[in-house]
Amino acid sequence: MCGIIGYIGEQQALPFLLDGLRRLEYRGYDSSGVAVKNGGITVHKKTGKVADLEAKLPASVEGTCGIAHTRWATHGGVTDENAHPHCSADGKIALVHNGIIENARNLRNRLENEGVKLRSETDSEVLVHLIHREISNGAKPLTAVRRTLKRARGTWGICVVFEDHEKIICARNGSPLVIGVGSGENWIASDTLPLQTLTQQVVRLDDGDLAEVSADGIKTSRFDGRTTDSEVTSLDGEWGEAELGDFPHFMLKEIHEQPEALRQCLTGRLDIKNGNARLGGIGLTAKQLQKIPHVRLLGCGTALNASQVGRIVIEELARVPTLAHVSSEFRHNNPVIETNALHFAVSQSGETADTLAAVKEIQLKGGEVRGVINVVGSTIARQCGRGCYIHSGPEQSVASTKAFSNMVAALSLFGIQIGRARTLSREKGKKLVKSLQKIPKLVGDYLEAPGPIEEVVDLVKDAKSVLFLGRGISAPVAREGALKLMEIAYIPCLAYPAGEMKHGPIALLEEGSPVVVIAPNDSLKDKTVSSIQECRARGAKIILIHEEGDPIAEEADISIPVPATDPMFTPMLTVLPLQLIAYQTALALGCDVDRPRNLAKSVTVE
Ligand code: AGP
Repeated sequence: MCGIIGYIGEQQALPFLLDGLRRLEYRGYDSSGVAVKNGGITVHKKTGKVADLEAKLPASVEGTCGIAHTRWATHGGVTDENAHPHCSADGKIALVHNGIIENARNLRNRLENEGVKLRSETDSEVLVHLIHREISNGAKPLTAVRRTLKRARGTWGICVVFEDHEKIICARNGSPLVIGVGSGENWIASDTLPLQTLTQQVVRLDDGDLAEVSADGIKTSRFDGRTTDSEVTSLDGEWGEAELGDFPHFMLKEIHEQPEALRQCLTGRLDIKNGNARLGGIGLTAKQLQKIPHVRLLGCGTALNASQVGRIVIEELARVPTLAHVSSEFRHNNPVIETNALHFAVSQSGETADTLAAVKEIQLKGGEVRGVINVVGSTIARQCGRGCYIHSGPEQSVASTKAFSNMVAALSLFGIQIGRARTLSREKGKKLVKSLQKIPKLVGDYLEAPGPIEEVVDLVKDAKSVLFLGRGISAPVAREGALKLMEIAYIPCLAYPAGEMKHGPIALLEEGSPVVVIAPNDSLKDKTVSSIQECRARGAKIILIHEEGDPIAEEADISIPVPATDPMFTPMLTVLPLQLIAYQTALALGCDVDRPRNLAKSVTVE
């Protein structure tokens, strides 16, 4: 998704802008640009990477106030003209925008009818011309922006600089913006990652907020004009270690961070003595948990797959009806919301527009939602107000790995907690807690000796398509494996519950077709053997992920053993080979592992 960075202060702006853009690259983009105020406003923008923009910059771009942007194209193709910043006709105003202006077409038509020449195909550009109109009519910058936004419909995170004013005007509605507070200088960013090396003090804007940011002050106000106090909060090092270190890619780094990330998620939340778990942020007593009529989980992509694992764990351990929903579908299906039901919004970034919209839909119908989120202070976390952080640490690779495992771990903790408030015995609880406690070490053990990943790569990298099969708790793991291989190696993949394979997908199989089967040592394993044999009978090559030492290995062409654990927790182990298969295949195919084409780390548009 698009990224924004801004600076105003006593130092040269450009270094902050370029470093900020580089730190925002993980969000996914296809062009970038900067605007620096130095008497006039100098704008440079270009398709491609930030390095391509840097290469075209003159030797020096002076100025102590500037804004910058990485664009992930929504309206208008990937061209230099469509890149941000966009400028007024006289070049005295420059603007960057994240989000979608839904009535842009109407606004464009009116501007063009009045003789304004728009230079791009974007929705964003209409805003800078409308602001210019207001300034020309005598409005001050903040008023000009507010009046303009009152005419717009949609979502925005914007920053605007003015040739004749020493300030940056920002506004937020649906696309996050955070102001980093300095001494004699301030920064603005679309998320907290670029700020973490600059300041720990931030002012987080909420939807409907505007801010007037100068070198020595921040004034926030609401859309209706009311001033608000610019509450300063601390980042508390929420991002942790966000550098690549010795790893070639963030994805590999984050795969190998899973043992520690899982420890961070579990620490302080396991009650071994009572065979219980506690997610304090959920804020529900045992008595309240007993009365929950049903549980609903919402997510997209990997978060949805983790929710589907969580669904099975919660329903199994607590015997409470539990469903996982696709956020983008849920919000449009006019759901019936029981106000005393329990809803979870599962999201790594905490900024996914579809999940945020689903949260608001539930709240609008009187329901409460709790977050299961990685990024502290993110929009969904604040919208929910309560929930638990999964403590994965920064996940920058577009392909989610450690966040998946930690989401599953957090939902497993909740499954134990609500289970013990209901029918789960102390003995069973203790057994589960002890198994869960061992998971980080088992993950580390596997990652030290992952098995024949390269052999699998040779089998899948040139395949027309790859079929992933799993039953029960392994069905969402199959979906996660398919998603990983699709999104970073661009190989068409299909994930199916193994029992469904013969109702259609089996038609895809021909001699040599690779089929990845997840078959841990659980009650469904024998059924899965039948599915394997049906595939083999049609010439498929079986890549089997199974419990180490299990004789089922004989059913495979390529066998990948993972450590044994409780059937409820196998996804945190069986997902590991799938992550490595995707990673190594993408490398073999020369794909951009951390920034796959067309994808963004956080999808903040619907
Ligand atoms: C997963 O590898 C993808 N990057 C994507 O499906 C992602 O899980 C999805 O966009 C949801 O993101 P979130 O967890 O930040 O809400």
